[in-house]
This record gives sequence, structure tokens and C-alpha cells, in this order.
Amino acid sequence: MNDLSNFAADRVRPLVRVRQIRDFSDRPIAPADLDAIADVARWSGSSQNTQPWRFIVIRERDTIRRLADAALPQTRALLTATAAIAIVLPDEAGGAVSHAYDEGRAAERILVAASLLGLGAGITWILPDARARIDSILAIPEGRLVRTIVALGDPSEAARAPKSAPGTARMPRNEVVFEERWPTS
Ligand SMILES: Cc1cc2nc3c(=O)[nH]c(=O)nc-3n(C[C@H](O)[C@H](O)[C@H](O)COP(=O)(O)O)c2cc1C
Repeated sequence: MNDLSNFAADRVRPLVRVRQIRDFSDRPIAPADLDAIADVARWSGSSQNTQPWRFIVIRERDTIRRLADAALPQTRALLTATAAIAIVLPDEAGGAVSHAYDEGRAAERILVAASLLGLGAGITWILPDARARIDSILAIPEGRLVRTIVALGDPSEAARAPKSAPGTARMPRNEVVFEERWPTS
């Protein structure tokens, strides 16, 4: 790598460092941090700028724990989270792929924003059999769907520790990134 590519790699390293956090300390998130994260979410790009989402910012610990219990084990990050953001989408068969794409973009930006603020975030995925329980806790109206709830908080000591040896949490670059065309063999 030359100096210029090192410079580029260093600039984007905060993004490379964004990881899934599932265990949090008791330290609460500052309200201004949570507001900033919600603003990042609503500024995400969406198909034709339709902004199909609504975001529910959840600060009540009791509500967060009830959400966790309603959809375990996928929601285990909510067991210790001090805040959460539920992404609410229209429940329309015709828009399913487009909405899921937009949802992923917003969820990832929430993770990035949290990381930039020194916080942690984790995607929790609500499977269909848990949806009625989640809808009831969050008072979701007919025709809307909650599939992603992002757990937020101050990462615990354990969660801050590397989960694997440096550079090993993703497949090697040459197996994932190809030049110009699909490789011959
Ligand atoms: C669509 C999607 C659904 C996910 N669902 C869950 C989930 O229900 N519970 C969970 O703990 N993590 C969930 N994750 C997080 C993944 O497990 C995580 O992105 C992956 O393990 C990589 O983690 P890392 O970036 O810390 O290496 C989900 C991620 C995506 C993209």
C-alpha cells in the first residue's frame, strides 16, 4: 500500500470499526446523542426519497426489557440496552423488497452514528411469530410493520473487547472483492 491508499484506509477506518454490540453498561445515553442518532436515521436515503419509515425512540427501560422478552433470542441485545430505535415500515406486499432495502440503510446508519459517538448499537430482528407481541407493546397500527429494533447503549467492557483476532472477522479480500469481472476460477 502506498501513502495515499494508507491515507484513504485511515479516513474510512471509523466505518470499518462499526460492529454489532449486544451487551451494554448501565451508563445512560445522553438525550442529545439519541436525538442526533435519530436525525441520522431520518436523513438516510430511501427509494425515490419516499422515506417509508417512522422511527420510535424508546428510552423507558421497562419497555426495552419487554421488547427483549417478546422476541428472544434475536432481541438479546435489548436485555441490557439503555435505549432503542424501532424502525416502522408500511406492511405492503408490493413494496417489500424496496422497504427492506431502505430499512437496512437506516439501520446501518444508526450503527454508524452510534459508533461515531463512542456508543454501541446492535440490530435485533423481529421474526414473524413475535410481531404481534412487539406491535402491542409499541402500539403499532394496522398496515405497519416492525422488523428491526436497534439496541443502543454504552458498550460493556466485554463488548468493547475484540471478538476475534484482528482482520479475521470477515472473509479475505481476494475472496470477496473482484476486479473487472467474475474470476475464472
Ligand atoms: C438483516 C440482519 C438481521 C440481523 N438480525 C440480528 C438479530 O436478530 N439479532 C442479533 O443479535 N443480531 C442480528 N444481526 C446482526 C448480525 O448478526 C451481525 O451483523 C453480524 O454478526 C456481524 O457482526 P459484526 O459486524 O460485529 O462482525 C442482524 C444483521 C442483519 C444485517
